[in-house]
Amino acid sequence: MNKSLLDVLGGRRQTVPPVWMMRQAGRYLPEYRALREQAGSFLKLCFTPKLAAEVTLQPVKRFGFDAAILFSDILVIPKALGRTLSFVEGEGPRLDPLTDAAAIARMPKHADAATLAPIYETVRLVKAALPADVTLIGFCGAPWTVATYMVAGQGTADQAPARLLAYREPEAFAQLIAILVEASAVYLIGQLEAGAETVQIFDTWAGVLPPDEFERWCIEPTRQIVARVRARVPGAKIIGFPRGAGTGLPRYAEQTSVDAVGLDWMIDRTFAREHIQSRMPVQGNLDPLALRAGGGALDRAVDAVMQAFAAKPFIFNLGHGILPDTPIAHVEQMLKRVRGK
Ligand code: CP3
Repeated sequence: MNKSLLDVLGGRRQTVPPVWMMRQAGRYLPEYRALREQAGSFLKLCFTPKLAAEVTLQPVKRFGFDAAILFSDILVIPKALGRTLSFVEGEGPRLDPLTDAAAIARMPKHADAATLAPIYETVRLVKAALPADVTLIGFCGAPWTVATYMVAGQGTADQAPARLLAYREPEAFAQLIAILVEASAVYLIGQLEAGAETVQIFDTWAGVLPPDEFERWCIEPTRQIVARVRARVPGAKIIGFPRGAGTGLPRYAEQTSVDAVGLDWMIDRTFAREHIQSRMPVQGNLDPLALRAGGGALDRAVDAVMQAFAAKPFIFNLGHGILPDTPIAHVEQMLKRVRGK
């Protein structure tokens, strides 16, 4: 059976591009809210394979997306590295902050395999249940983005705590990034060996760094993960999503050796087509707020994305995760428009 998303990652353009959405399993779906209620908490949902697998499949069943993305979170890696993790309703993640070099020196060098085992089980369950033409995507957070949450202990407007620590204690910060490179590579290899057919590396906070720091803390660690994964899983297909990288995107694409680049909604599309899609497939980049808005604005936004990228290998997606208050009818409208029916 043909998998259109894998075909695109192999460089073969599809007449109708494969479609999926970041955060496609989430609170905008009533069936997700019901299962989350049943699980009791978001983390319980992530670590209960039967429920996580069911949530992963929900958007595929409802909308017929071309890919399923493993239901989990990027912050399971800090948890497997011994940090405490919780999610505060309506606010987001909370971790015990990693504030200085001494605390980093005490970190374990490897993630606890038993903590991550249920996630590989979720991958196996999803793979067994997935329609033959749908691609299973695994993922991890990029070391920089994961480190920003570990240092601050939560999300902040500009992730200044991690940037400050990286300036003040570059050696210690490099040590933290090295631990995350190793843990993330092992984690992605585990997902690929359990049945994930491609993996995406989410670098949500790539855009807050000046060029030299972007090279050091985003490009280089991602390059190392890609190399480490491919050494173990030859030909592994890897999508990089350095949100906000802007004019740093071409360097990211070239130096990390990812197979495709996920584009955020802010990037100039002509720039992305000329400098990224000229050399590899791209994925993106509908503004999640255009999807939230619906109507003619949504149609125009979908058309603009298609016009910019559909002539070459392309995966239709949002430029970041779907917002929880997005109406389901808008997702249906988007899919119809992309697929031309
Ligand atoms: O895309 C998918 O459908 C797969 C699942 C997935 C989740 N998080 C589920 C989730 C993926 C790929 C992520 C990645 C993730 N998690 C990122 C990188 C991508 C991005 O969106 O920027 C980041 C930075 C996180 C950390 C995180 N997790 C934050 C900041 C939050 C709180 C914000 C929010 O939306 O509530 C989460 C929680 C989270 N992760 C939810 C989901 C479905 C919401 C939890 C809930 O209340 O049910």
